[in-house]
This record gives sequence, C-alpha cells and structure tokens, in this order.
Amino acid sequence: MKKKSARNIVITGATGDIAQAMIKRLPGDNLYLMSRSLPEPELPEKIDILVNNSGFGLFDNLTNLSDDQVDEMFKVNTLDAIKLTRKLKPTKLVNIASISAKLPTKKASVYAASKAALIVFGEALRFEGVNVLNVNTGPVSTKFHAARPDYLRKVGSYVLTADVVAEKIVKNLDTHKRELNLPWQLAFASKLRAIFPGLVDTMSQRFFNYK
Ligand SMILES: NC(=O)c1ccc[n+]([C@@H]2O[C@H](COP(=O)([O-])OP(=O)(O)OC[C@H]3O[C@@H](n4cnc5c(N)ncnc54)[C@H](OP(=O)(O)O)[C@@H]3O)[C@@H](O)[C@H]2O)c1
Repeated sequence: MKKKSARNIVITGATGDIAQAMIKRLPGDNLYLMSRSLPEPELPEKIDILVNNSGFGLFDNLTNLSDDQVDEMFKVNTLDAIKLTRKLKPTKLVNIASISAKLPTKKASVYAASKAALIVFGEALRFEGVNVLNVNTGPVSTKFHAARPDYLRKVGSYVLTADVVAEKIVKNLDTHKRELNLPWQLAFASKLRAIFPGLVDTMSQRFFNYK
C-alpha cells in the first residue's frame, strides 16, 4: 500500500483538550502548534490544513457582558480565525464552531453569534476553492467548561468526549465533508429548527436550557 505523505497541519489553541486529542491521532504529519503558551512556530510555505480551534465562551445574558468581553469573544472565536486563514491560505480549513450557532440557547447570544459568523465565513470561502469542514459540536467534556463545573453534569447524555470529537475530525481531514454536527440528538434538533424555528426554540427552553 502507498504510504501517505506527511501533511503540513496548523492547529490553533493547541493546549486545548480537543486539539490535544487530535494531535495524538496525527503522528505521521508535520504539526505546527499555535498557542498562547508556546513560541510562534516557523511555518512552511504550503499549509495543507489549518484547524481554527482556539475559542472560549462566556455564558450570560447580554446585558451582563461587558463590551470588552463581547470584543474578546469575537476576536478569538471569529476574527483571529479569519485573519489567520487569510494569511496561511490553507488547502483545507477546519473550523471548530459550535452547534449553538444552529440551535441557540439562553445565555449564549454572543458566543453563538461568534461561531455562526465563523460557520458562514467557511461556507462562503468554499466558493474561493477552499475545502472547508465546519465542526458544529454540542457540549464536550473539556476545560472549556472549567468555570461551570455543574453544566456538563446537567447536560448529561448529550456530552461528548474530546476523543470522540477528535476522531471524527481526523477521519475527515482528507474528505470533502462539509459539516460535522454532533451529537446526533442536537444535530437532529438543529435540522428540525431550520424548518420549525418557533417550535424548536420552545422545546429548547425545556430540554436544552442548562446554562
Ligand atoms: N467544549 C465544548 O463543549 C465545546 C462545544 C462547542 C464548541 N467548542 C469549541 O471547541 C474549540 C476547542 O475547545 P475545547 O473544548 O477543546 O476547550 P479548551 O480545552 O478550553 O481549548 C480551547 C483552547 O483555545 C485557546 N483559548 C481559550 N481561550 C482563549 C482566549 N481568550 N484567547 C486565545 N485563545 C484562547 C486555548 O489554547 P492556548 O492556550 O493553547 O492558546 C485553549 O486551550 C473551541 O473553539 C470551542 O469554542 C467547544
């Protein structure tokens, strides 16, 4: 069997739990890890894959968030990702977005908006010839939720592990899959919401209202 050649892969937010679970599944590739706690790597000219993974969420009602917090969420989750994509011109782009962009819930207006912008950015960029995979995941048990220890327990059966999410992403690095919507229950609800938004928003208040 022909040996696959190593790909040049840039991953942002590299100390993150989903990023780490991806990294351990990519032993044969050239990885360039970008992180607030690492020196900036020297990048090769050709980037095969950029994974826009950096992100964080502050979950509260809009009037409880400051302008600085709104700016910071859009900076990290959206603008930095767009600017890095422009700079690196990857062949394949993986945006780690969120199912909250398609299935909005209470206290997530700014976070959901920042991820929705990232998703649409990727969708439009396909018209410029970039192979884009948007990863729209529901709750994953990572340090993303460190400030809300109760949240993952309350969400219960919808919670995924970083390993499950990373496995699905890594499997699709060489495909033309457009989206991963996870877990299946929230993927189904988000598809239903596209047809019956009012009904699903009412149901969300009851079933997905954990923040
Ligand atoms: N966990 C979930 O439930 C969930 C659900 C939907 C989507 N996501 C998305 O999945 C991605 C990965 O998150 P994760 O769950 O693996 O969480 P994580 O372990 O907290 O990793 C996120 C990484 O993003 C970087 N980051 C966090 N805050 C930042 C800030 N203010 N400025 C710059 N960089 C920052 C950090 O990496 P460095 O310190 O190395 O720079 C951090 O390790 C994020 O984009 C998140 O929005 C997560």
